[in-house]
Amino acid sequence: MNDASPKEVGLCDASSVLEGAPQRHECRGTSVIVLRAEGALHVYANRCPHRGTELDWLPGRFLDPAGKHLQCATHGALFRPDTGECIAGPCRGQALAAAPFAVRDGRVVLEAG
Ligand code: FES
Repeated sequence: MNDASPKEVGLCDASSVLEGAPQRHECRGTSVIVLRAEGALHVYANRCPHRGTELDWLPGRFLDPAGKHLQCATHGALFRPDTGECIAGPCRGQALAAAPFAVRDGRVVLEAG
């Protein structure tokens, strides 16, 4: 059930987004990453700023072996989950694109951007 307005797309229940367990969702023909870091929700485009590829190792698998950072499967860039900033790799200093979102009635909804 999606009670978001036509300019919004419901992604998931906010309560289902747990620390250390980023989720992949499809939206408007593209893929986004929904995650929780230090209690706060974040939504990023699933697109590496280096070459524009999706980050997942396997569908929905984003974390490095230590489970602390998002890691691009293509060349291994590492990204902070709380800011999307690349801290190591070929796109160091760049960042994942944050997607505008809100939480409405407990649902994470992507806003028109
Ligand atoms: S495409 Fe992500 S590090 Fe190169």
